[in-house]
Amino acid sequence: MILQELKHSLAKLLKVDPGVVMLNVIEGGLSHKSYRCDVSECSYYIKLYNKIRNISNVVTYTNQLTEYMRGRGVPASRVVFYSSEFPNIVVHEFIEGRPPSGELSQVAAIAGLYSKVAMIGRDHSKYLSKPEYLSPIQIIRDQLETSQVSGAEIDPVIHTGMLSLTDRVLSALEAGMRDEKLLHIHVHDDFTEKNILMDGDQVKLLCDWDSCRLRYCNEHIASTASRFSTTRPLGGLLQQDKLDRFLGTLHPVLFENVAGIEAFAVLFPYWATLKHIRTYLFRSVVVHRDRPDLKQSLLSWPLQHCLWMIDNRQQVSDWISQALPSD
Ligand SMILES: Nc1ncnc2c1ncn2[C@@H]1O[C@H](COP(=O)(O)OP(=O)(O)OP(=O)(O)O)[C@@H](O)[C@H]1O
Ligand SMILES: [Mg+2]
Repeated sequence: MILQELKHSLAKLLKVDPGVVMLNVIEGGLSHKSYRCDVSECSYYIKLYNKIRNISNVVTYTNQLTEYMRGRGVPASRVVFYSSEFPNIVVHEFIEGRPPSGELSQVAAIAGLYSKVAMIGRDHSKYLSKPEYLSPIQIIRDQLETSQVSGAEIDPVIHTGMLSLTDRVLSALEAGMRDEKLLHIHVHDDFTEKNILMDGDQVKLLCDWDSCRLRYCNEHIASTASRFSTTRPLGGLLQQDKLDRFLGTLHPVLFENVAGIEAFAVLFPYWATLKHIRTYLFRSVVVHRDRPDLKQSLLSWPLQHCLWMIDNRQQVSDWISQALPSD
């Protein structure tokens, strides 16, 4: 949709003259186009969806979910205008803020919010068995193998690296996880620096709630704690001070189901890689179809980061054991 067309649609939606609608592109999203829209004193965040199919269901569901979250003190933004006449345009309130800087001083606020979101997710949880948990990961592994054969677009070195990483992670989890019921929580599954806005050390916004789903609690904690403990976004090494602060801020109840902190610490490095494994094919398509300029940050760095985590798993496990209260 060209800018002028969007301006006219927004003017109709907001019931104002097109001449007073000011639009600016917001950089950073991978799947959708986003804009800041200013109309006299009011600012809006516009999300323009690519696919029209089912957007209105997504909006209804996300609205209910974010209202529930706001009621529990989570800064989730509000949809202020939506009409089936323009099904792919969603108008949110605009939140002023900046993405997390990566500094240690912001980690406690981010972990505090994560703790709150995970605790709410615990109220909507379900237990799954070890095979139920591992079989979707096995499916991802098989998809990686198939696309390696047929997908000429995918970087062969990175792709082979991801496949062998996935094999290592799967066999470590197969061997290391006990056959017990695994607590899955209903949680924001894209809790990353890309979906957070801050003002200094305060979190102002957690967006992209369409990604909320059932996730294994231990894996989700490991992925998120490591995500906010790296030396740079989406990659680099882990920093012990950030990891300490993140895990130290989480509500102790989140670790209640953990069968021994030692077992959690040993498997932490493997669980921490899974978010990267689960999203690799999506990131790879984005890079190869639209954003070759992001190959390093979206594909190379995450792989290096995961390999570092596995190669240094003893060190990482020791840090986890030190950061958490012993049994
Ligand atoms: N209500 C808001 N007010 C101000 N800025 C926002 C708001 N919601 C999101 N943003 C900014 O816009 C960026 C992109 O938003 P969002 O995460 O909703 O889309 P996306 O990342 O393109 O979607 P996806 O994650 O599905 O690819 C975010 O990183 C955030 O900085
Ligand atoms: Mg996003």
